[in-house]
Amino acid sequence: MRIIAFNGSPRKNGNTSAIIRSILEGAASTGADTTEVLLHHIDMKGCMGCLSCNEKHGQCAQKDALKPYLEEMKTCDGVVFGCPIYMYRIAGQMKLLVDRLYSFYIPQPEGGYKSALPPGKRFAMVISQGAEEPEQYKKSARWLAGMAGTGLGMAEVGRISHINSHIEPARSNDRLLEEARAIGRRLAGRD
Ligand SMILES: Cc1cc2nc3c(=O)[nH]c(=O)nc-3n(C[C@H](O)[C@H](O)[C@H](O)COP(=O)(O)O)c2cc1C
Repeated sequence: MRIIAFNGSPRKNGNTSAIIRSILEGAASTGADTTEVLLHHIDMKGCMGCLSCNEKHGQCAQKDALKPYLEEMKTCDGVVFGCPIYMYRIAGQMKLLVDRLYSFYIPQPEGGYKSALPPGKRFAMVISQGAEEPEQYKKSARWLAGMAGTGLGMAEVGRISHINSHIEPARSNDRLLEEARAIGRRLAGRD
């Protein structure tokens, strides 16, 4: 069982990181192998728009530090996508990843797309925000879940929307971190 987490926060010990690490802890407690990818801290480039993936399905031509992790998405069992809200939208680091996921969308002659990823994968999501209204960025969260997860044929097992981050940091919220561990166990196929 392999789980890969993409962390779109530049803060290695911020809120997104604390929640993602608890999800991975939960997965690891069931015996899963886990990897966390700190998108801001690897040499990652954005999509270069070459569209070569329309011919070579599932193959992103961009050669950078993200490429091996895109390959890992093909063989892993579960994926975590986590990021903060910046300027009313998901942080740019996560958008760069989602653009690269286009290489997993196979255009169909009749319109629409098929996923280049093998079926049966699960995913979970983490969004951290300063604002106190959980519903405020629901369109952004729905977009991320759709583009990165369900659109590629993955089934969502849980989502954490962390609010009020400046008043209630994730690392001192035991209930939230326990919820994250439970999501991690589900991601690994337990509970
Ligand atoms: C540049 C920037 C823009 C932000 N924009 C928003 C915003 O539009 N709405 C919001 O609720 N919080 C906003 N925040 C607050 C972050 O979403 C919040 O602090 C979050 O917990 C950071 O996550 P992290 O600790 O994982 O990095 C912003 C923070 C930064 C640095």
